[in-house]
Amino acid sequence: MEQRNEERNKTIIEIPTENTRQNPISNFELITDQTVFSNHEFVNDLLDVKQIQQGLETKDLGQNIFLYDSLPSTQVIAKELAVDFAKEGTMVISEEQTSGKGRMSRSWHSPKGAGLWFSFLLRPDVSLNQAPQLTLLCAVACAQAIEEVSKVVVHIKWPNDIYVNGKKVCGILTELVTDRNQIQSVIIGVGINVNQTAFPEELAEKATSLRLEAGRKVDRTKLLQTFCRQFEKLYETYLSAGFTPIKLLWEGYAISIGKEITARTPQGTFYGTALGIDEDGILQLQLQDGSIKQIYSADIEVND
Ligand code: BTN
Repeated sequence: MEQRNEERNKTIIEIPTENTRQNPISNFELITDQTVFSNHEFVNDLLDVKQIQQGLETKDLGQNIFLYDSLPSTQVIAKELAVDFAKEGTMVISEEQTSGKGRMSRSWHSPKGAGLWFSFLLRPDVSLNQAPQLTLLCAVACAQAIEEVSKVVVHIKWPNDIYVNGKKVCGILTELVTDRNQIQSVIIGVGINVNQTAFPEELAEKATSLRLEAGRKVDRTKLLQTFCRQFEKLYETYLSAGFTPIKLLWEGYAISIGKEITARTPQGTFYGTALGIDEDGILQLQLQDGSIKQIYSADIEVND
């Protein structure tokens, strides 16, 4: 027991063999019984399914959690679960990702125990071109949760990068599982830099963590619970009232709207004024010749 306590202080999760099983749909070790960690102090800040669910004020989101110590990417497992007919709101969390995926085929730095790296699945009855709306909705939920728990002020850079003081603190990756042009499920992956105290050199200029910005450690469990509550509330609003109320909230956080921007898209680079987003969540860019270009997917840079 003493040895276990010592290990807990080092925030190493060692899973006793009898408390583990293989996830039936993948070969990664799943943490299934966290009783040994259930009284842990937030100082150690290990994620614990029971503790997360005790404070969860949701009907679906996070009511079914698969927690791993280490995974290549939570997106991959969530997709496997989606294909395997897992329930809406099922969530996959990992303390670390060894091949975390970012937007536009980039990687996502996901060091152990420092952030929140999770993916969850939805089965909304929406068309393919409405799917980007869910990414924007998720960005609003992240922004609300981060502000509520860490008290730092955030902005959203279209479509879904969350920034604090000019540096990225959170990214969202949405992927679809489709069947004959119909959405079978939407997999939303969220990465939040929570308690890192430093970043690799190549990220140091552009990334930050909530701990660095707030000047104190931030409770990952509380942040995740708050995200789940905010997301589900917005999702219910979206399903009953449509995208307009979400669009208004998103615009309240947006930094790029009304500004001169550079949009690097898979089709080329465009310069112009970001007018706003349309009812599908697509960015409307006014080019220098006055024409309006719809931007579906891009990296945005706000020009000074
Ligand atoms: C971005 O490029 O901004 C999106 C980053 C998304 C990262 C999250 S971390 C959890 C989930 N699993 C992944 O491999 N990626 C997403």
